[in-house]
Amino acid sequence: MTPPINLFEYESIAPQHLSQMALDYYTSGAGDEVTLRDNRTALEHFKFLPRMLVDVSGRDLSTQILGQSLSMPILIAPMAFQCLAHPEGEVATAKAAAQLGTVMVLSTMSTKSLEEVALASKHCQQGSKGEKSLVPNPLWFQLYVHRDRNLTRTLVERAEAAGFTALCLTVDAPVLGRRERDSRNQFTLPPGMELANLVTMADLEIPKTAGESGLFTYFAQQLDPGLTWKDLEWLQSLTTLPVVVKGILRGDDALRAVEYGAKAVIVSNHGGRQLDGAIATIEALPEIVAAVGEKAEVLVDGGIRRGSDVLKALALGAKAVLVGRPILWGLAVGGSAGAQHVLELLRDELDVAMALSGCATIENIDASLVIKL
Ligand code: FNR
Ligand code: LAC
Repeated sequence: MTPPINLFEYESIAPQHLSQMALDYYTSGAGDEVTLRDNRTALEHFKFLPRMLVDVSGRDLSTQILGQSLSMPILIAPMAFQCLAHPEGEVATAKAAAQLGTVMVLSTMSTKSLEEVALASKHCQQGSKGEKSLVPNPLWFQLYVHRDRNLTRTLVERAEAAGFTALCLTVDAPVLGRRERDSRNQFTLPPGMELANLVTMADLEIPKTAGESGLFTYFAQQLDPGLTWKDLEWLQSLTTLPVVVKGILRGDDALRAVEYGAKAVIVSNHGGRQLDGAIATIEALPEIVAAVGEKAEVLVDGGIRRGSDVLKALALGAKAVLVGRPILWGLAVGGSAGAQHVLELLRDELDVAMALSGCATIENIDASLVIKL
C-alpha cells in the first residue's frame, strides 16, 4: 500500500485502526459541531496574494518559540488518551516530535506518565545522530487545574523536574463541552488504560457513568470551574517555567493573559469541542494579534490540515500553529512513524506554499500575503 499522500488520507484510513468509542471521542465536536466545521471553512475564505520573482532557493522553515529553536512553526497540540490510538500512545508522539525538532504539548490527561514521556523524548534526542539540530527537551506540559490544588501543584513540580520547558494552562474548559456521541457511548477508558499522571497520586480514574460520558463526569467532579485570572498568578508562583494560556478567543482576554504574566497565548476553541458556536480560530486571530502586539507570542490551532493553512495563520500574525487530530490519525495508522509522517507532510506542504508565495524564510511571511474574501 502506498503511504497516505496528505492528512485527509490519514483521516480516512484511521477508522480501520480505532474502536468506535475512540473514533467518536477523537472526531467529535460539541453540540451541532458548527465550530468544528467553521474552523475548516473559515480558512477557505482567506486567499493568497503571492509575490513573484523572489529568490526562494535557500528556504528555511526554522523559527523560535519561547526562545526555543524549532525546525518549523508547527507544534503538536495537547490531546488526551493517546493509547486509544496506539499502544505506545504519548511516548510515540513525543518521539515523533523529537525526531522532527518540534514541540509536543503533553496533556494532563495522558495515558503514559509525564516522566515516561520525558524519558522517551530524551532517549530519542540522544539516539539520533542525524545532521538535524535537535531541540533540547521539546516538551511542554498542558495543565488542567483540579479542585485539589495540592495535586495540581505536584503535577506542576513533576513537569518541571522532568524537564518540560513550558506550562500550557487550558482555560476554555471549566466544564467539558457536551459531545453527544461520547454521551451516547458512555465514554470511558478500556481496561488496562489509565490516567497515568493521576492514578498514582489520588487514585483518580474516569468513572463509568450511566447515560453520560465518563470524561464529562470526571471534569464536573474533579476540575475547578472556579478558576479565574488570579489563579494565573498562583500558577506562576509555583514554577519558573513560562506559562502559555490556551483557549483564548478575544483580544481583551489575550491582553489580560499577558498582563497576568503569560508569555504566549494560544488562540483556540479546543478543536470545536467546547462551546459550539464559538468563532473559528482563524477569524479570531487578527484581533488577538493586534491586541497583544509585541508583548507576547500568539499561536493558533483548529483545523490546520495543509501547509497553506499554516502559511495563512502565519500571515495573519501567528508565530506558529498547533495541529491536533491529524497526529492521532497518524498514530493510529502507523504509531510513531505515522505521527512523524503527518508532521513531515505538513512541513513539506508549507515549504512549497512558501516558495510559491515568495517567502524564503518565516520572517518573510507578512500580512500583505493574504486577503479575506
Ligand atoms: C483535544 N484538545 C485538548 N486540549 C487540551 O488543552 N487538553 C487536552 O487534554 C485536550 N484533549 C483533546 C483530545 C482530543 C481527542 C482532541 C481532538 C482535542 C484540544 C487540542 O489541544 C486542540 O485545541 C484541537 O484539537 C485543535 O484542533 P484540530 O487540529 O484537532 O482541528
Ligand atoms: C478533550 C479534553 C480532555 O477535549 O480536553 O477531550
